[in-house]
Amino acid sequence: MEINRLGVDLAGLRLANPTMLASGILGLSAESLGNIVKTGAGAIVTKSVGLKPRKGYPNPTVVQASCGLINAMGLPNPGINEFIKEIREAKNFDVPFIVSVYGFSAEEYVRVAKKAVDAGADAVELNVSCPHVGETGSEIGQNPKLLAEVVRKVKTVVEKPVFVKLSPNVTNIAEIAEVTAKAGADAITAINTVKAMAIDTETAIPLLSNKIGGLSGPAIKPIAVRCVYEIHERVKLPIIGCGGVTNWRDATEFLLAGASAVQIGTAVAIKGPNMFKSIIRGINAYLKKKGLKSVKEIVGLSHCS
Ligand SMILES: Cc1cc2nc3c(=O)[nH]c(=O)nc-3n(C[C@H](O)[C@H](O)[C@H](O)COP(=O)(O)O)c2cc1C
Repeated sequence: MEINRLGVDLAGLRLANPTMLASGILGLSAESLGNIVKTGAGAIVTKSVGLKPRKGYPNPTVVQASCGLINAMGLPNPGINEFIKEIREAKNFDVPFIVSVYGFSAEEYVRVAKKAVDAGADAVELNVSCPHVGETGSEIGQNPKLLAEVVRKVKTVVEKPVFVKLSPNVTNIAEIAEVTAKAGADAITAINTVKAMAIDTETAIPLLSNKIGGLSGPAIKPIAVRCVYEIHERVKLPIIGCGGVTNWRDATEFLLAGASAVQIGTAVAIKGPNMFKSIIRGINAYLKKKGLKSVKEIVGLSHCS
């Protein structure tokens, strides 16, 4: 009989395998997210949702660079009151459903997170790392005092796991992770996009309407792996690696660096959700070849060398 090597416990959530859909990829509806579940993802994270509806920025909001995508969507979303019906529908998914939350103050994070959990979210992921909208996202995650306040206040009202998604656009991500851990977070997601831009050489005009956006995809994988490695050295919390995963080897590298699970964004947006299956199969074959019985056995293994 084949052993189940792939299941992981993530801050109290049981995932059938360590792959997750990253926030912001493939729509906001429960229907489109449900289609991802069918392709084998171990958990789903929604696009970030705030207290009020937001249109986001005018086009262009995404630029294809040679090494990945640069996006400045501007956090478009219908607002939590409207999104609640999608959460209620997604409650029936047989994988954990995690709602990504943002706010312009600690109180807003608290209100959105509470509404998401009351509607049935299995966990919330606090987006304190979006690099292209002012007074939220990375402007909160780069400020240790504000970050601690947001995490602490959300933890006091939310009875489900609270994941905190960190920005690589800081001097010392391990220090920020420590602040997050002390404030009571249940897990850390690392990383969100890396601040970036692109300029049209003919017109001399920045390509994104917001000028500055965030780089994702293969170019940021080494940065993300380094961030996970440094966080694992500093804090005991489970880490979810994210940034540039396109195949099972990338995912395995994150596990070896210290991640308990990996999120996949750009590669799913570009190549489609079927890649979950090949990544899961590849990790399983790797564990089998190494004579290992569980993903847990390779989490952080690179720190032993
Ligand atoms: C088009 C697009 C939209 C995104 N929207 C969000 C979002 O709403 N909230 C969030 O926390 N991250 C968002 N991200 C960041 C991703 O979740 C992920 O952290 C990042 O893209 C790195 O992973 P990847 O290289 O696998 O894409 C977005 C990324 C892209 C490309």
